[in-house]
Amino acid sequence: LFALNPVILLVTLGGFCTNAVYCIFQNVKNGTGKDYFSVSGGTLLNNVLFCALAGVLWYSQFFGLGMGKSYFSDSPVMLAFSWSILMSLNVIFSNVWGILLKEWKGVDYRHVYLDPFLIISEYSLIKIDMIILRNNERLMAEIDRIAEVAGYLWTKGWAERNGGNISVNLTTLLSEEEKALPALVSSIPLQEAMTALCGHVFYVTGTGKRMRYVAKDPFANGSLIRIAADGKSYDILAEQPIQPTSELPSHLLMHNFLRAKGRDNRVVLHTHPTDIIGMTHCKPFLDSDKITRTLWSMIPECRIIVPKGVGIVPYEIPGTLALAHATIRQLEEHDVVFWEKHGILAVGEDLIECFDAIDTLSKSAQIYFSARMTGYEPEGMTDQQLDDLVPAFGL
Ligand code: 13P
Ligand code: ZN
Repeated sequence: LFALNPVILLVTLGGFCTNAVYCIFQNVKNGTGKDYFSVSGGTLLNNVLFCALAGVLWYSQFFGLGMGKSYFSDSPVMLAFSWSILMSLNVIFSNVWGILLKEWKGVDYRHVYLDPFLIISEYSLIKIDMIILRNNERLMAEIDRIAEVAGYLWTKGWAERNGGNISVNLTTLLSEEEKALPALVSSIPLQEAMTALCGHVFYVTGTGKRMRYVAKDPFANGSLIRIAADGKSYDILAEQPIQPTSELPSHLLMHNFLRAKGRDNRVVLHTHPTDIIGMTHCKPFLDSDKITRTLWSMIPECRIIVPKGVGIVPYEIPGTLALAHATIRQLEEHDVVFWEKHGILAVGEDLIECFDAIDTLSKSAQIYFSARMTGYEPEGMTDQQLDDLVPAFGL
């Protein structure tokens, strides 16, 4: 019952010391120390007593919180709620007190009655939803992986400005309660119904957001979206109303297509690797067999890690449904697709695996260019050497 109280005492003591040091510093700087004692004896006594009362009240709210929390040690939801309840009560009581003492006198009555109510109810509800989500360890572990990969994309030099985008299906990581959280923004229409994704929840990077910032703060540079029950629109659930990537049509169409095929696909990763885009500027490589054969033959791992090879999508305007449809046609046979003069997309169950596939293809492209820079056409692994990998690695 009292176990948290010593901790609170220690934490608040830190706050007391910082405040005391700063007050003394200001008193010395402004020569105001003597003001404490330049009042009558009765006023001085009142001041001391009221200060002590304020201190006791301030401490006791945390004592009460700590004692209350000990009753909920096996309920993470109530533990998450406890802080919001305390803060909401603080806001409610201080506003009621402010009204009773006529601090709102002269202010338009609508502000007096509505503002505190709206602020408290909206803020605490949104805050509580976010705390619930952030307490979901499996969800947060996946969000950490998204941040990790976003960092790799930036350090690899594949993510100039806002280049690239990520979407991850998080549905299986969420409880029914979390999947049903109220929307921050609701019913944003989709150009096409995503009938295999009804009710699914995704993390999606925001349009115009930089990968280097997604790496630092994924929730400030992307959002959780939920596809509606009829698949025709989506809601933004958390944490902020960040508009999803302009490539959402491609991402969702790819998720939808793969789900409809019964594949347990969770990830779509799009990025702009310089070397791969360079290859798509060379006409002979705008052929799936040719570019796959060339990249596979640069290093054995390439065929092992990208066994289905790569598909080619001829140039289309970024963010369009035409690009999205051309892309899903390639998913019949491949897990990695090159967008001519634009970038690369990988799909899969695991974000790190998707990154690894792109990384390996980029390595092969670099080997190819490095060999070409010596002045020779690289020999590449022979057909036999490539074929020997199939039984050896069960491809
Ligand atoms: P977004 O910022 O909208 O995600 O666009 C980046 C991009 O790479 C478009 O293809
Ligand atoms: Zn792009």
